[in-house]
Amino acid sequence: MTRKILVTSALPYANGAIHLGHLVEYIQTDIWVRFQKMRGHTCWYVCADDTHGTPVMLRAEKEGVTPEALIERVKSEHMRDFGGFLIGFDNYHSTHAPETREFCELFYQRLKAAGLIEARFIEQFYDPVKAMFLPDRFIKGECPKCGERDQYGDNCERCGAAYAPTELKNPYSAVSGAKPELRDSEHYFFRLSDPRCENFLRRYARQENGVLQPEAANKMREWLGAEDEHFLTDWDISRDAPYFGFEIPGAPGKFFYVWLDAPIGYMGSFQNLCARKSLDFDEFWRPDSNAELYHFIGKDILYFHALFWPAELIHAGFRAPTKIFAHGFLTVNGVKMSKARGTFITAESYLAQGLNPEWLRYYFAGKLSNTMEDIDLNLDDFIARVNADLIGKYVNIASRAAGFVVKRFGGRLLAADAALPALCAIREAAPGIAERYENREFAKAMREIMALADGANQYVDNVKPWELAKTPGREAELHAVCSNSLNLFYRLTVLLKPVLPALAARAEAFLRVAPLAWDDVETLLPAGHGIQTYAHLMTRIDPKQIAALVAANRESLAPVAPAAVNAGMAEENEARAAKAAVIGIDDFLKMDLRIARIVEAAHVEGAGKLVRLMLDIGEEKPRQVFAGIKSAYDPVALQGRLTVMVANLAPRKMKFGLSEGMVLAASGPDDAAGGIYLLAPDTGATPGMRVK
Ligand code: MSP
Ligand code: ZN
Repeated sequence: MTRKILVTSALPYANGAIHLGHLVEYIQTDIWVRFQKMRGHTCWYVCADDTHGTPVMLRAEKEGVTPEALIERVKSEHMRDFGGFLIGFDNYHSTHAPETREFCELFYQRLKAAGLIEARFIEQFYDPVKAMFLPDRFIKGECPKCGERDQYGDNCERCGAAYAPTELKNPYSAVSGAKPELRDSEHYFFRLSDPRCENFLRRYARQENGVLQPEAANKMREWLGAEDEHFLTDWDISRDAPYFGFEIPGAPGKFFYVWLDAPIGYMGSFQNLCARKSLDFDEFWRPDSNAELYHFIGKDILYFHALFWPAELIHAGFRAPTKIFAHGFLTVNGVKMSKARGTFITAESYLAQGLNPEWLRYYFAGKLSNTMEDIDLNLDDFIARVNADLIGKYVNIASRAAGFVVKRFGGRLLAADAALPALCAIREAAPGIAERYENREFAKAMREIMALADGANQYVDNVKPWELAKTPGREAELHAVCSNSLNLFYRLTVLLKPVLPALAARAEAFLRVAPLAWDDVETLLPAGHGIQTYAHLMTRIDPKQIAALVAANRESLAPVAPAAVNAGMAEENEARAAKAAVIGIDDFLKMDLRIARIVEAAHVEGAGKLVRLMLDIGEEKPRQVFAGIKSAYDPVALQGRLTVMVANLAPRKMKFGLSEGMVLAASGPDDAAGGIYLLAPDTGATPGMRVK
């Protein structure tokens, strides 16, 4: 039976670049969709940029462009990145589109008619300088629990406390620096606390053969509480101007909150596809639809997808999602992606370094399960795994056999031995592997496929074609053995195709076969079938490429010496300890190094390691830099001397004030053992001179 399936991935924000963390999701979804398509099902995969909200508005302003121009540019960057990783969307749209606006208005009207929208006054922080209400993330101040400065309006990064922005001590606007005022404003709420929503969600979450994974269902139970508890609170769906978004009909100056229109953007994108392809939108979205609807998301946005979204859908006259598939977060080398470590890797930089996107697709597939567990990209393991599995086990089978077939037998194959155990094993394992794909147990699928590839290699090792080739009179055997090998490769290609679409396409060209469907795993290449000369299908990963990738993504331009010259950044020091990768002159020239005169040097109260320096580099005003050199230098001795500073380092807000650069010093692996040696130019250099 052919299924009708509509699949989405979360809509990435238009205020940032696609990075490897995002790609976990898009690769996971893409593999699943490609699998469904190979099975012959009707499967549509739609996505869009999530364009609205305060961050986009402010960023556009900062860049001096309209929000429309900004989102346009970011969308083309996102599409380029996704294309680079072979994410095969059937449609990639934008939430800032007429289709999405229409659906938003329709939802609003219908929810309002159902009595599920309520207007209410709330008190909120307002920035009097910028003349706007401030989202929590744009209010900073001192943590009410531990007193740490410069903490965001929702939680403290130091002690982890969660609080309301109104609890911050000495709050200030992160936009203008002004002291925010509390002001009243009318907001619109979606009445999630209404018994209709609560009852529906209880039923929805309890459904047989779950809408949610077990861990997600647990979360849902937590959010809903017991039957007699009423935990759900109403959801604020409006924001005041200035805001980049859709204005609410009949409410001038009020806009739909970005999280209201974002999931509706799934429908907007699909509607846009329907118009282009003459598909029937309602067939997928009407309440009694028998089409399947799946949302792939990260665990961080489960709340929006499991509570608000189904409740909105059902009360606006549409169907609810069949299932919500939440995945965990990506870590790199066991920790959160970090700009200082160079592991906050953008999709663009990965591709720009010439790395093969299918290496990452395979590695992620080898790690992905259907749980919400985080997945780790260990860079050493990445190199080892891809080289061993894809090159050593899979591609190898073809390269070992193809040369003989082309050189000795005119590129023609004999009929394969259909009873060959390694060949039968692949066919017999295929239904189980299909089930793994269907259940998103990709790691298990990859393990099973590689076990089959091991079997195939054992066969080749046993029959030793390279020896047969040297022995006169054994040509027929050689021909048979190579034909079997290429059929092993053919069947393995079917199984790997959802993960490695480009490699599979090259294999199809090399084997001269039509695009493979899943059922082709049952078939064999016929006797007399001609193949093409073997051309390289995939190269190995060179560890140097990975080192260069990490270096390219390291944000702070770390000095070669592992000096802890600048303030308290344990993480960055660790990154520096790793030997710096080779860079080109262009990378070096990005650093603006200047001769600086220390016009003032002073101790910093409460800082164990820091000295505050005022540096003259020929600018109007000296720059302030906090340097971790207290253990080696008395500030008095520093005054008046020359040194070298990095003048174009992004300013860094520290506890003690703004640090506007860094000075260079040499040191051993740790301060205590090696000492710290500030650099100084030869006589004659003057403040402001460029060092290059
Ligand atoms: N715009 C919202 C989604 C709206 S959906 C109607 C959003 N955007 S996002 O750009 O922050 O994230 C897009 C998706 O990528 C989310 O599902 C998110 O969980 C996922 N990931 C973002 N960073 C990630 C990791 N580091 N690791 C794994 N997935 C990550 O949320
Ligand atoms: Zn705190």
